Amino acid sequence: MFGMGSSAAVRVVAVVVALAGSLALALPPAGDMKILVDRILRKEAMTQDRSTHWGVNMTTTEIIEAMGYPAEIHHVTTHDGYILELHRIPHGIKGASQDRPVALLQHCFLCSSADYVMNTPDQALGYVMADAGYDVWMPNFRGNTYSRNHVELDPANVKFWNWNWDQMAVHDVPSSIDYILATTGREDLYYLGWSMGTTVFWAMMSELPEYNSKVRAMAALAPVSYMDYTQGPLVELAPYSGEMDTILTLLGVGEFLPSVPVVDYIAEKFCDSNSTVAEICYNVLFLIAGPDSEELNQEFLPVILAHSPAGCSVHTINHFGQIALSGKFQKYDYGYLGNLNHYGHATPPLYNLSAVTTPVGLFWGQTDWIAAPADVARLAEELPNVALNHRVDKDEFNHLDFGW
Ligand SMILES: *[C@@H]1O[C@H](CO)[C@@H](O)[C@H](O)[C@H]1NC(C)=O
Ligand SMILES: *[C@@H]1O[C@H](CO)[C@@H](O)[C@H](O)[C@H]1NC(C)=O
Ligand SMILES: *[C@@H]1O[C@H](CO)[C@@H](O)[C@H](O)[C@H]1NC(C)=O
Repeated sequence: MFGMGSSAAVRVVAVVVALAGSLALALPPAGDMKILVDRILRKEAMTQDRSTHWGVNMTTTEIIEAMGYPAEIHHVTTHDGYILELHRIPHGIKGASQDRPVALLQHCFLCSSADYVMNTPDQALGYVMADAGYDVWMPNFRGNTYSRNHVELDPANVKFWNWNWDQMAVHDVPSSIDYILATTGREDLYYLGWSMGTTVFWAMMSELPEYNSKVRAMAALAPVSYMDYTQGPLVELAPYSGEMDTILTLLGVGEFLPSVPVVDYIAEKFCDSNSTVAEICYNVLFLIAGPDSEELNQEFLPVILAHSPAGCSVHTINHFGQIALSGKFQKYDYGYLGNLNHYGHATPPLYNLSAVTTPVGLFWGQTDWIAAPADVARLAEELPNVALNHRVDKDEFNHLDFGW
C-alpha cells in the first residue's frame, strides 16, 4: 500500500500494534465494554442523560457565567488566516478594581480555554486570577474546539491541519497578544502557560524577540522544552510518530483526537465519580501524566473529559515525538528535502532559549512524567532570566495537576 517497501510495511504494522496495545491498556474489561457499546447505541437516552450532568455540554463562557462571573467572546485572525476564539473574564466578583493588569492564560496540548474554569471558583485559575484583580484572557490555539475556522480552508480539508507548534508560536500567540493589548489599551501583559503553552512561548521569543517587551513576566506551569527524560506511553509511541504522521496525511487525516460526541459521552458515563468503572478514567490519565496525586477534583472529571481532548493537528504530536527522539529543542523536521525547502539546511534550526529575556517563573512537579524534573533543570540553565524556580511542595504532583 502507498507504494512503500516491505520494511515500511513492517513499521506500519508495528505502529498499529503499538497503538492497539496502548488502547488495550486503556479499554475497560469485556463486560464493561458491552455496557459501553449498548449505551452508545441508545442515542435518545444519551441526549436525555447529557443534560443532567452539569457543565458537560457547556462552552467555556457558559461555564464561566454559570459560576456567576462575567464572560466575553473575542475573535482574532492570524496572518496565515486562522480565526482564533479568545475567552475573557474581564473582572472577578470579589470587587472589580479599575486598574486591572492583563493576564493571558495559554492552554496545553489537546486542551482549550475550558481548562482554566472547570473547577470551583476558589480553585480554578481563571476565577482565582479574576478575583485577585486581573483582566483574564484565555485564547484558543488553531484547530481546537473553539478555533476551527479559517478565512479559506475548511477543517474537513487536510490542508487546514498543515501546521505544528512552530506556527502557533509565530502566529497564534503574537496575534493574540497584539489583539489583547490593542483592545485593553495596555502596553504589556502577564503570560501564563501550561505545558505546550510554555513551549510556544520559548519558540516565539526565539523567533520574535521584540515580544519580550510586551510581556512583563511569564509563569511556566509544567514547562516543556527538552523531552529527554519524558516517560510513559507518549515516549513509547515517539519512534512511530513520524510514520503515523505520514500515513495519516496520505489518508487525508490531519486532525489528532478531536472532541467528538461519542468521546464526550464515554467520558460522561464512565468517568462520573459514582460510576463503577471510574477507575479506568483515572488510570488512563495517570498513564499519560504521572502517578495519581489525589489532587484531581473527581466531581469535575466528567466535565473535564467532555472538554478534552479538544483537537490538534497530527503534525503537532509528531513535532513533540521529534523533540523526544532528537534531544534537541528545534523546529519541525520535514526530512532532508523538506528541510532544504523550508529552512535551506538539511536539519531543522534550533530554538534559542537565551532570547527569552522576560523574567520567567518555573513551576514543576516531582512526579510529572511529561515535564520531567531533569528536563526542567536543563531549561532553567539555558533561560537567561529565571526569576523563580519552584518545585511544587508535594512528593506527588503530576502534569495534569497544574490545571485540573
Ligand atoms: C446544555 O443543556 C442545558 C439543559 O438541557 C441547556 O439549557 C443548554 O442550552 C445546553 N447547552 C448547550 C451548549 O448545548
Ligand atoms: C454521586 O452520588 C451522590 C449520592 O447519591 C450524589 O449526591 C452526587 O451528586 C453524585 N455525583 C454525581 C457527579 O452525579
Ligand atoms: C541567541 O539569542 C541571544 C540573545 O538574543 C543572541 O545574543 C545569540 O546570538 C543568539 N544565538 C544564536 C545562535 O542565534
